[in-house]
Amino acid sequence: MKAINALYEAQKIAFSPFVFQTAYTMIELGILDALYKSENGLTMKEISEKTAISDYGVKVLIEMAEVSDIVVRTAIDKYDLTKTGYFIARDEMTRVNLMFTQDVCYKGLFHLKEAIQNGTPAGLKELGDWKTVYEGLSVLPEHIKKAWFEFDHYYSDNSFDSALEIIFKDAPKKIFDIGGNTGKWAIASTKHHPEVRVDIFDLPGQLKVAKANIDQIDSIKDRVTYNQVDMLDPNSEIPGGADVYWMSQFLDCFSEAEIEAILLKIKKNASKDSRVYIMETFIDNQPFPAATFSLVATSLYFTVIANGNSKMYTSTAMKYIIDKAGFECVKEHHLHQNSFHTILEIKLK
Ligand SMILES: C[S@@+](CC[C@H](N)C(=O)[O-])C[C@H]1O[C@@H](n2cnc3c(N)ncnc32)[C@H](O)[C@@H]1O
Repeated sequence: MKAINALYEAQKIAFSPFVFQTAYTMIELGILDALYKSENGLTMKEISEKTAISDYGVKVLIEMAEVSDIVVRTAIDKYDLTKTGYFIARDEMTRVNLMFTQDVCYKGLFHLKEAIQNGTPAGLKELGDWKTVYEGLSVLPEHIKKAWFEFDHYYSDNSFDSALEIIFKDAPKKIFDIGGNTGKWAIASTKHHPEVRVDIFDLPGQLKVAKANIDQIDSIKDRVTYNQVDMLDPNSEIPGGADVYWMSQFLDCFSEAEIEAILLKIKKNASKDSRVYIMETFIDNQPFPAATFSLVATSLYFTVIANGNSKMYTSTAMKYIIDKAGFECVKEHHLHQNSFHTILEIKLK
């Protein structure tokens, strides 16, 4: 890269919060939507009329959006979305990531240096007074909760259909869903098979939400039970008796040492025939750079907001911990159709 271009790239980084807030504001004020719905773009005057925003407001936002390649000037005085602008206006992954960044992470990211220096989620205080974000999830303000759950669900829901096929190939009768959250997997699996029973293990706030969701569905509510557990408590246990131990997007909430400790808790009571399934979006298993970028950025959410010590892992790192804890990986399932996920199927050595 020529120095003049590198200097330009460096300015994009120096001013990156300005670009982000411009994109967010243009979504919220309906400017990107108005441009998306226009035939051949709009003049600044037309944008101002359609959105009831001052000429000044439209001008500063459009000028920033133009130098950031969100909009392009098409003819004298007309502006339209670029391809990048189109994705910001309409792509679901981009919307979910952007709202998560704004509502959950933006203020907290200010404390990243402190989080790195101290190994604590120093930005979490911007949301509430908890040790980890999971303790506060169920009581977050509504718009922040919405952004968190949309982000969480976006990266797991679309993989459940393929996951069900893999998990039910051995006809399990009892599944332990560790980190079962709002009960989405418990609902999906008990609907998938009319006899399977699911035990959800999670923190109390999440169990309450899961129970409220599941109690509304008569055909499944008697087949789900709820187990309050803090997996970080050294005295907590995972009992035996499950055919399948299911952990979806769960182990990335913990440091490498904590993951090993959790696997050892499972190992203590699991039988030789039990299968443990770990579903994750691994950094090294992504076919698209947009996905890799999103996951690497998500690691910093764990650093500064969630818990201060976990991250999105590579499958290589996870398999190393699995081996160290005394399990062997019998199969690695790649769910790349419309999904970013890998399921590691493991059993006791
Ligand atoms: C990222 S969510 C994943 C939810 C769900 N399995 C999915 O695939 O969407 C992580 C879940 O782990 C739970 N969790 C985090 N720390 C925990 C802990 N120390 N003990 C028990 N559950 C915990 C959270 O409450 C949350 O429900």
